[in-house]
Amino acid sequence: MGGAFLYGAPAPGLVDVPPGAVQVSPLIPGSQDLAAIDVSMDEGVVLAPAGTLERDHVLAQALRVLRPGGSLMAFAPKDKGGGRLKKSLEGFGCEVSETARRHHRFCRVVRPATLIGIAAAIASGAPRVVPALGVWSQPGVFSWDRVDPGSARLKELLPPLAGRGADLGCGVGILAHAVLASAQVTSLTCVDVDRRAADCARRNLDDPRAEVVWADVRRVALSDLDFVVMNPPFHDGGAEDRALGVAFVGAAAGRLRKGGVCWLVANRHLPYEAPLAAGFASAEVRADAGGYKVIEARK
Ligand SMILES: C[S@@+](CC[C@H](N)C(=O)[O-])C[C@H]1O[C@@H](n2cnc3c(N)ncnc32)[C@H](O)[C@@H]1O
Repeated sequence: MGGAFLYGAPAPGLVDVPPGAVQVSPLIPGSQDLAAIDVSMDEGVVLAPAGTLERDHVLAQALRVLRPGGSLMAFAPKDKGGGRLKKSLEGFGCEVSETARRHHRFCRVVRPATLIGIAAAIASGAPRVVPALGVWSQPGVFSWDRVDPGSARLKELLPPLAGRGADLGCGVGILAHAVLASAQVTSLTCVDVDRRAADCARRNLDDPRAEVVWADVRRVALSDLDFVVMNPPFHDGGAEDRALGVAFVGAAAGRLRKGGVCWLVANRHLPYEAPLAAGFASAEVRADAGGYKVIEARK
């Protein structure tokens, strides 16, 4: 079959991306799933993720879909797993040529006829029920094998909600599950930009009132909601990005009806006061402990 794939969004000029490469990152809505590709590809470019299980899963999937003799360029910032790429790829039976540039490590390999340990790496990074949580999750998804302390705090304080609502940045559905305990909730739209999280949330929220959407919160068309719940992200690609959290506050305000309520939790150092004041008629801190603030904001 042939063709090329790209995993991730490299900075401009960092690597050569083959023209027409198919995007396969789960963090880019609309992209293809590497796990679902069963044709032999000629070439792959992978901006490898930082987490070990996630990274080895992605590299193993990338090698799996390449034809023998096909080429893979895997790279990552040196301090975010780039320093471990060579060893991982050698462990899969590849001969690796490594270079360093702009704080990144670049590993080029030609896919050998025989690969080692691919199935095990794919299985180690695959979706599964996490026994401690009792829910579907996957390495790479936010707080994949434990409940985030901020989300736990918000869950404790969340009153029974009612009407039409949304969980913005729903992850695997921890907050959504708590929201759906209220029989007064008529519908809940759960949105996440991570396809893996959305897929897990779909499996975890077996409730006809819940709809899970793989999308960027900033681009979903929702309006006149009665409530929003959220634990907004403040990291994008590993780097702190406060603007993203601020955009979530704006997105919540823009999607609520007048009088609608937003319950959110945030790390206390995050400066959400100004966007809350701009988008809402009132915003009350309902708890401030353990480094987290739980806020009830009314439109
Ligand atoms: C702090 S986590 C909270 C996850 C979940 N609500 C929980 O409590 O466990 C933030 C979530 O927002 C998602 N996210 C990040 N940027 C997003 C965006 N632009 N649009 C939609 N979701 C996004 C992340 O993938 C992550 O699952």
